[in-house]
Amino acid sequence: MRLIDKLIEKGVLVEPEIVETGLFDSLSESQQEELLNEDLEILSRDLLKKIIGKQKESKETFEIIYDYKPKQEKIDVNMFVKMFNNRYRELEKILLQRSELEGVMSINRIKSDNEGKKALIGMVLEISETKNKNIILTMEDPTGTINAIVSKSRKDLYFEVKDLVRDEVIGLTGSKSGEVIFVNSIINPDTPLSKELKKSPKEEYVIFIGDPHYGSKVFLEKEFKKMISWLNGQEGTEELKNIAAKVKYCFITGDLIEGIGIYPNQEKDLLILDIEEQYEKFTDLIKNIPQTIQVFIIPGNHDAGRIAEPQPSSLSDFAPSLKSMKNVHLLSNPCLVKIAKHKNFSGIDVLLYHGYSLPYFADTVESIRNAGGMNRTDLIMKFLLQRRHLAPTHSSNMYVPSETDDLVIKTVPDIFVTGHIHKVSVGSYRNITTINASCWGDVTDDQIKRGIEPQPARLVVCNLKTREVKIINFLGKRKK
Ligand SMILES: [Fe+2]
Ligand SMILES: [Fe+2]
Repeated sequence: MRLIDKLIEKGVLVEPEIVETGLFDSLSESQQEELLNEDLEILSRDLLKKIIGKQKESKETFEIIYDYKPKQEKIDVNMFVKMFNNRYRELEKILLQRSELEGVMSINRIKSDNEGKKALIGMVLEISETKNKNIILTMEDPTGTINAIVSKSRKDLYFEVKDLVRDEVIGLTGSKSGEVIFVNSIINPDTPLSKELKKSPKEEYVIFIGDPHYGSKVFLEKEFKKMISWLNGQEGTEELKNIAAKVKYCFITGDLIEGIGIYPNQEKDLLILDIEEQYEKFTDLIKNIPQTIQVFIIPGNHDAGRIAEPQPSSLSDFAPSLKSMKNVHLLSNPCLVKIAKHKNFSGIDVLLYHGYSLPYFADTVESIRNAGGMNRTDLIMKFLLQRRHLAPTHSSNMYVPSETDDLVIKTVPDIFVTGHIHKVSVGSYRNITTINASCWGDVTDDQIKRGIEPQPARLVVCNLKTREVKIINFLGKRKK
């Protein structure tokens, strides 16, 4: 139904000239929704302009840059090919800006070209080792495949090669000899060295809440409520109360609820056995977050609905009361949100990803595994930023193939946030703050089996004026 028809149905008298002005056509879906929620008798052109102006004013400090909506696509085998081609093209665009890759050629052309110096951009199809411990990389681009050899004598490349993973897109330089390339250098798409550390002109704060898992017997309700009391200025030292008063944004990194049937015999760990009830009661807690704070929520693998990534927010179907809250924004996993947009300041981009792929890379990438694996989320996040992809290897996550690869990190964020690991970590890579949020549940058997050592009830707080990050421990001294 058209917006005008909906307004008329509501009993609103709409001035006929509004339709001619085209103002209705310029309204976004959320603006239309807000207009329908206004208590109106007559809608004149001036009033409509005023309402639009008011909406813009109230929303000027944030902007949803990317929020995935499922596409109406026929999924078949070709879709995998299209998706990987799209990934290749997107990352190729980034790599082509690198001076080291000047004169890059397609694999097909290299094969028919003379021997000598070559540069190529390809996807790592296979990594194998010869008997003599040289590494063979089978590289693929849309024109063909070629083997690239990294000699064991190249000690300078050893660590880079050991950290390569299947399906990532890299640039290679080397010398063609016979049918193969002997590798001289490996180039990641990476994030620019020149990225500026953006700071808001105003002292304002953003908080990151990780993995609440509401509905589980071990949900730390007392601690969660204490955190919300702090946000309301009723908890903590004067210094902390001053920070709470300036919190403007809140991100929740998924796994809002514990869910049902996520792992065998999960029922014994559940306090609430109904998904909708888990959401309803969780929403009751969220309602106590001050309305002046914009809350951005993505789903995780414990949430209801589609789990495959990119994961659209299906929370509006399962958690209608959460959806109806004006300061709550239910977004996809991953998503990109700009916050702290002010006059003469373009804002700070926050990339939010639940983090399903993180354990795979903690285990697969040698340097990360040796440095502590899942205890080093900062290194995993750096690794993903360098690959410019949230889950470079097929099988590192569950995904739905599409014509585009929505997990490519096209926009370099200012803050990159994940959850899923249930452990706090704060790092920085080339002026990008990397944050893994905490969780709000104590240890469960399932987590022990998966080798996760949770660090619950920690709240990550970032001062957007200084970009300093603080961790507030709401668990107190009760447990470590
Ligand atoms: Fe979780
Ligand atoms: Fe999770």
